[in-house]
Amino acid sequence: MGLNVIMIGPPGAGKGTQALRFARARGLAKISTGDILREAIKAETPVGLKVQATMERGELVDDATMIAIVRERLMRPDAMAGFLLDGFPRTVEQAEALDQIVEERGNGPLVVVDVRVPLQELVRRLDGRLVCSTCGTNADPFGPTIKRCGKCDGEFVQRHDDDRSVVVERLKVYERQTYPLVKYYQERPTFRVVNGAQRPEDVAFQLDTVIDDAAAVGAMEKAES
Ligand code: AP5
Ligand code: MG
Repeated sequence: MGLNVIMIGPPGAGKGTQALRFARARGLAKISTGDILREAIKAETPVGLKVQATMERGELVDDATMIAIVRERLMRPDAMAGFLLDGFPRTVEQAEALDQIVEERGNGPLVVVDVRVPLQELVRRLDGRLVCSTCGTNADPFGPTIKRCGKCDGEFVQRHDDDRSVVVERLKVYERQTYPLVKYYQERPTFRVVNGAQRPEDVAFQLDTVIDDAAAVGAMEKAES
């Protein structure tokens, strides 16, 4: 049975940071829709050209485009043993499509983690975030200030949508379009909340614990049904 995890939470909650570590530690396919779109923009693919302006405004890309991207990605062989989705679903329509895809794949329940962080801390993190202009890696906010990426020597810059006015829009969009997902998922036995306003290693510890617990509950439910 596969481990299928989604992380929901507002911009700056630390989804990407935690997704990278967790997926690597568990050998899961990490699927970050924001990263996929930023790569498409960089490569000037048809999808990239279509979504660029929307992302720069801090709005959501349309559901049909996102569902097609995620469906194709989840059907690849490396995702069959399990996946971690960061940034999808972001609307109820996307969540319904994901339920359908998980059902079609038929390998394991869906664990849903809601990463919560107070608003002021989100703004502080996004104001301070630097990312590599070449490979997209986040600079370590706890490390010494360095100008270039340790992985690829690319220059650290502000992400285009971390400009304060766009951050405000992204947070509003989250409240309006993505927060309703909490209601969509919260009655499920595999829904868990994590306090994201702790040190990254403490968030990671809590994530490990709640995901294992929820996966065990989900597996038991499946076996009984
Ligand atoms: P996306 O790239 O997914 O952005 P987001 O959801 O706004 O989230 P962020 O990446 O800004 O934050 P994060 O939670 O990953 O935090 P991070 O770990 O970097 O989406 C971008 C855009 O793409 C959207 O606006 C939309 O246009 C489009 N899009 C994507 N998916 C879509 C979908 N499904 N439907 C429609 N449109 C879609 O951490 C943030 C900072 O905090 C970093 O500097 C980090 O180092 C630091 N940090 C992390 N953890 C901690 C901690 N515990 N303590 C202190 N600092 C921390
Ligand atoms: Mg991210």
